[in-house]
Amino acid sequence: MTIHIYQDTSALLTAAATLICQQAAAALTARGRFNLVLSGGSTPRQLYEELAKPAWAQQLAWKNIYIFWGDERLVPPDDPRSNFRMAKQALLDHINIPPENIYPIPHCQTAAAASLYESALQRQFGQLPTFDFILLGLGEDGHTASLFPNTAAVTEQNRWVCAVPPPLGQGPARITLTLPVINRAEAVCFLVTGRSKAAIVHRLLIPAGNAPALPAQQVAPVSGTLTWLLDAAAAAELPAIAANTKEAYER
Ligand code: 6PG
Repeated sequence: MTIHIYQDTSALLTAAATLICQQAAAALTARGRFNLVLSGGSTPRQLYEELAKPAWAQQLAWKNIYIFWGDERLVPPDDPRSNFRMAKQALLDHINIPPENIYPIPHCQTAAAASLYESALQRQFGQLPTFDFILLGLGEDGHTASLFPNTAAVTEQNRWVCAVPPPLGQGPARITLTLPVINRAEAVCFLVTGRSKAAIVHRLLIPAGNAPALPAQQVAPVSGTLTWLLDAAAAAELPAIAANTKEAYER
């Protein structure tokens, strides 16, 4: 696990965009395609807006890049809460990516969406997917994607995609990738900003011995890399460099 802390959001977004370009170049060289999983959330949205800028967008061979989602809210695709709509507005409408490279989670109003998405992944990958890069946000309760504490989706070990009942106070029912899929990725990256996340970042990265593991703590790639990109505000309660991480302060 590697933690990078940036003095401001702009530096963090530059680092995140650079990391994605690097991972894309490596995947395209090795396998001729880059399978990228997007997250919902206000922080990931800022990254998509950054990637849409020509300086980044022109570095990426979008014709060989395939877009998936780590989770989605069971709302219509034009609903302001839709993660697909958010990514479409912030990024997809501004880049030259073939429509057939985009795999939104079906927005139908039932758990059938989970089965439909899992079938789509099976057609794409044939076996448990190995995504090249999975972007994740972090909730103040330790959720990531739509893996919320104390829900069945967190402990699911067979399904690739799960339906999640409406999380308390956090809107509609959802669809989420499960941990077996997330932990099979080549690279997983948490993108966390803001002082409101400092407490959960501290709890996750410097866990107390007897505290139950939160969903975000169970993101542990089997063989891929795990990177945390934090701004100084989100890292404000990290007292020191945690033993098993390399911390780099970027200007
Ligand atoms: C979602 C996301 C969710 C999000 C976190 C952080 O659909 O909401 O997948 O996991 O990334 O809740 O969101 P913010 O960056 O907006 O705090």
